[in-house]
Amino acid sequence: MSATIVVGGFWGDEGKGKIIAHLAYSDKPSIIARGGVGPNAGHTVEVGGQKFGVRMIPSGFVYPDAKLLIGAGVLVNPEVFLKEVELLKVENRARVDYRCAVIEPKHIEEDRSSDHLKGKIGSTGTGCGPANRDRVMRVAKQAKDIEELRAFLADVPLEVNEALDRGEFVLVEGSQGFALSLYYGTYPYVTSKDTTASAIASDVGVGPAKVDEVVVVFKSFPTRVGSGPFPTEMPQEEAEKLGIIEYGTVTGRRRRIGYWDGKLARYSAMVNGATQVALTGIDKFDKDCYGIREWEKLTPKAKEFIEKVEDDVRAPVTLISTGPELQQIIDLRKEKL
Ligand code: GTP
Ligand code: IMP
Ligand code: MG
Repeated sequence: MSATIVVGGFWGDEGKGKIIAHLAYSDKPSIIARGGVGPNAGHTVEVGGQKFGVRMIPSGFVYPDAKLLIGAGVLVNPEVFLKEVELLKVENRARVDYRCAVIEPKHIEEDRSSDHLKGKIGSTGTGCGPANRDRVMRVAKQAKDIEELRAFLADVPLEVNEALDRGEFVLVEGSQGFALSLYYGTYPYVTSKDTTASAIASDVGVGPAKVDEVVVVFKSFPTRVGSGPFPTEMPQEEAEKLGIIEYGTVTGRRRRIGYWDGKLARYSAMVNGATQVALTGIDKFDKDCYGIREWEKLTPKAKEFIEKVEDDVRAPVTLISTGPELQQIIDLRKEKL
């Protein structure tokens, strides 16, 4: 029995998609289960020269042998889900918990026309806030009420827990990031739900005692899209000088860029109960690290930074991502765990 949860440590877009794809290929889960808010997320996976940006289907889809389940806690936009199912050709293995709440066009309209959500908070405009509100009010539709989703319905906790009982490996995928949590983030500039590992476990219906590993993903230079506090933010010109320019996967908005925030990282690792840390974008910290796949070949400057990260988060850095492509990673789990 073994379950691993992967969550974001900062404001989302840490590169969870890539880390999950790597873990899927190396650890061969029978199920990849997606938690988190909903289609406000955009996970990027680059493999074999192809780049995918997924919003609903778990980003481990590139590994062909896993069932792809969306937990009951996640909001489903049927249109986005069905489009991704078709595009990625995962009809036979993508399933949605029958209790997922549904995002309707009226939620998207409300989100996009709201001075508070779109204007002040800088929401993604994907309808998540209004749909979660309707869920709390107990008026939202559920996946089981939608004719087009009928062929895709599942009992996700049952599938996940039965797989664990059979001794299989289950990978649980979070979305967004710690500082966007409704409870622990920079309220009110946050998303519409808690985003920490415990919430992600609840989203897919796996009890805390069944989770073996919590991998918190941090990026070397944190980013934030939308409004709100960002203590280590750098001016745009400075980011450009460092060659760091990023755009959001869902909204295309330019991401704000900051320096490593050790204080936030420590708190985030604590609340998430990190057992391991994945650090992405080390190639942005030191260009000479691009594409490297062995620890020994990293530059002294990068090694020193990674050691500082370990001191900050008080957990081992087991995965070091050196570029966007799936193969560009150093996996130290055998050495460090
Ligand atoms: P959310 O669920 O929306 O929070 O997304 P995410 O954590 O899956 O991250 P997202 O894919 O939105 O953004 C990460 C970006 O960084 C993508 O464009 C990735 O291709 C890219 N990326 C991931 N790892 C690395 C890395 O090590 N180096 C570089 N240069 N880019 C990376
Ligand atoms: P909402 O989740 O669309 O309501 O947006 C609320 C806040 O969370 C805004 O600042 C968004 O930019 C941010 N946000 C939501 N999902 C993501 C994500 O997947 N990556 C990065 N930021 C996100
Ligand atoms: Mg993203």
